[in-house]
Amino acid sequence: QFFPIILAGGKGERLWPASSSSSPKQFLQLLNGQSLLQATAERLTNVAGGWDGLWVVTARPWLEDVLTHLPTLPAHHLIIEPEGRDTGPAIAYAVTEAVRQAGEDVVLGFFPADHWIGDIENFERTIRAAIQLATEHDGIVTLGIPPQYPATGYGYIQAGDPVPGWDDWEGARVARFTEKPDLETAQQFVNSGQYLWNSGVFVMRAGVALRELQEHSPDIVGPLLEQGAAAYAQLPKLSFDYALMEKTRKALVIRAAFTWDDLGDWNALERVLGSQDGGNAVVGRHLGVDTHGAIIYSTDERDLIVTLGLEDLVIVRTGHTTLIARKDRVQELKTILVRLRESP
Ligand code: GDD
Ligand code: MG
Repeated sequence: QFFPIILAGGKGERLWPASSSSSPKQFLQLLNGQSLLQATAERLTNVAGGWDGLWVVTARPWLEDVLTHLPTLPAHHLIIEPEGRDTGPAIAYAVTEAVRQAGEDVVLGFFPADHWIGDIENFERTIRAAIQLATEHDGIVTLGIPPQYPATGYGYIQAGDPVPGWDDWEGARVARFTEKPDLETAQQFVNSGQYLWNSGVFVMRAGVALRELQEHSPDIVGPLLEQGAAAYAQLPKLSFDYALMEKTRKALVIRAAFTWDDLGDWNALERVLGSQDGGNAVVGRHLGVDTHGAIIYSTDERDLIVTLGLEDLVIVRTGHTTLIARKDRVQELKTILVRLRESP
């Protein structure tokens, strides 16, 4: 039995102003008239055995949005956190709930709601291989993506010994997992040729996850086992990558055979859309003269963005807010938001 669980409780601050704390990025229609959450759900329907095989873990403030975007989701497949405390608590809570409802042998797959995947057939094949690997072995299966540049926003997986019999899919043990290294370290990892990006998808048997969490993150899973959701207020805010993946010796990796991107910041739009419109990545109506390498986003069909003689800028318009930034600085948006909250 396989439960695909979508992680849909994050904020996505680096896509401000289109995403914000009142409307986080999983509910954005970034590319094709579907929200990122809907696209994630649709992509999983085959491996889930239909829409009613899907699960979602989200935080209370987004509950109504989740139901609006996924109206056919069975009510008992919604795992509701009182508040967001990052993916460590989100995954740990879902694991304890799955064990309670379905026992330790059920295979769980956790899927971020902010991914773009170019090739569904290979995605499905890789997920089926991950399910098989997690069924045969006591391990937490990650999907590794061949790195294309020294990204500092991803986790890195050093592949170790192959798992016997897994040459076809290159299933291997993880020698080392490093979450979001600094640029210099990321560059060394990429140059070494031994590392893969962590795609953020995790597949494992519920019982294996429970025991690993008890060993490495007792401060998260302990209170959840004792008190359920009531434990949230006392849980640390920590991602699963730090809470478990950097510590466990049971991580496994399958080389992903699909094209992938994390739609984490505005530059991702350019990677995914490519340059259209005379060298710019555009969502919305744009008239550009001598404009190159721009990323432009506006979903209100009444908007028209006109640019003259610009290069390498990000222009995002939503409601009454407009962001104009240099492309190479959009990572700093999180810091700006802190300042905006202090003095709007
Ligand atoms: N339910 C719930 N609760 N979901 C959450 C929470 C929470 O508190 N916080 C984040 N999420 C969801 C987000 O909505 C997103 O779908 C997913 O969990 C991943 O969170 P991100 O915040 O986007 O993580 P990241 O991109 O910085 O890093 C992770 O993904 C990378 C690849 O995309 C890590 O796993 C990296 O190692 C990985 O490379
Ligand atoms: Mg992400």
